[in-house]
Amino acid sequence: MVFPEGFLWGAATAAYQVEGAAAEDGRCESVWDVFSRTPGRVAGGDTGDVAANHYHLLDVDLALMTELNLNAYRFSVSWPRVIDDDGAVNRKGIDFYERLVDGLLDRDITPFLTLYHWDLPQRLEDRGGWANRDTAQHFADYAQVVHDALGDRVQNWTTLNEPYCASLLGYGAGVHAPGRREPRAAAAAVHHLLLAHGLARSIIRSNVSITLNLYPVDPVNPDDPVDVDAARRVDGLQNRLFLDPVLCGRYPADVLADLEPLGFADHIRSGDLALIGAPLDSLGVNYYTGHHVTGQPGGTTPEWIGSEHAHNVSRNLPTTAMGWEELPEGLFTVLNRLHHEYPRLPIHITENGAAYDDVADHRGFVDDPARQRYFEQHLRAVEKAIEAGVDVRGYFAWSLLDNFEWAEGYAKRFGIAHVDFDTFDRTPKLSGRWYATVARANALPE
Ligand code: FCB
Repeated sequence: MVFPEGFLWGAATAAYQVEGAAAEDGRCESVWDVFSRTPGRVAGGDTGDVAANHYHLLDVDLALMTELNLNAYRFSVSWPRVIDDDGAVNRKGIDFYERLVDGLLDRDITPFLTLYHWDLPQRLEDRGGWANRDTAQHFADYAQVVHDALGDRVQNWTTLNEPYCASLLGYGAGVHAPGRREPRAAAAAVHHLLLAHGLARSIIRSNVSITLNLYPVDPVNPDDPVDVDAARRVDGLQNRLFLDPVLCGRYPADVLADLEPLGFADHIRSGDLALIGAPLDSLGVNYYTGHHVTGQPGGTTPEWIGSEHAHNVSRNLPTTAMGWEELPEGLFTVLNRLHHEYPRLPIHITENGAAYDDVADHRGFVDDPARQRYFEQHLRAVEKAIEAGVDVRGYFAWSLLDNFEWAEGYAKRFGIAHVDFDTFDRTPKLSGRWYATVARANALPE
């Protein structure tokens, strides 16, 4: 199948994972600076201080995108780079994103801008972070600044990346910044992030999206009511807690009941859900793996709230270096579910990709047939979804570059281009070269 005309073939990054230049040109601290510098939080003690040095290698990276035949690029804006600790606009920070966007447009690469990919200014965390409702209004003010600067050139706006991770991993499990293990604060953060989305949506008004990390969730034993209920709860927390308010303007009743002991509903004020549920122009889907859940004791302990009553059980499928099971047909399941259970709107796959234990040769080249296969199998699932009528408009490989993989540091490499973290040379991997041929043909190989 040839993909629909105008299909976007992109790659994605996030500011803290690639930019570096953490203390340059007036950038302030974010929660990820503080978290990564705290011993024991990130593998290898790695930080994003230098990352892939993208801030200084912007032109190199733009040329790389052209070399890879990309016609879209998804990046995030660093909030602490554009708003200083007094709440004032940092012109130098804005300049960087103007150069990036102009460089993309010059190359006919469509910019997809994400306002929040987890780098909350530390000064706001010091006042409670996402557990504090005021943070949502600060986010809206920041969104206004970025929109004023770039709204004339950027046609694709994403408010938040994966609010699930920002709230539940950051404030509940404590494995992401700010590293808090406070389930009540995590519940508050869920609502305040979604409120931030709604407020920003009302400012940006058109061409607005949100990116959610979605999973198929299957009970280990579909005949065991305990497993079925565990799957319901995990699906509730990972998928429906975010999809339902954003697409339907209401929280799912069963999830509200599950979160009742954490005081979740106390944070919801009249008018919030109208803002949160105002119509969007598209939806971003990040997809990596699926969940296979039992409510019986055993299995590995996952990181969601209430995990004492639900465990992931391996299906004995191949896994990536992250330990995530490869489940390409799960991407079809997710897309098909959106098509049948939610109001329909255009969809972009805003992230999909895999880490493997890459070995680079003396030229920096990585022969990574496993990653190529991962992309091909997932793209076949996208193809199948399109054939089934799902309106998928684009696909973004995660990631353009090897980068700072959050709690895993630099050890986990997701790039379609290899980065040598001593010289900062970029070299397209086998998978990157393959992806470039697919992008050029607008079709998978026969
Ligand atoms: C997603 C994140 C992205 C990257 C991938 C592997 O959850 O949005 O930044 O780390 O996982």
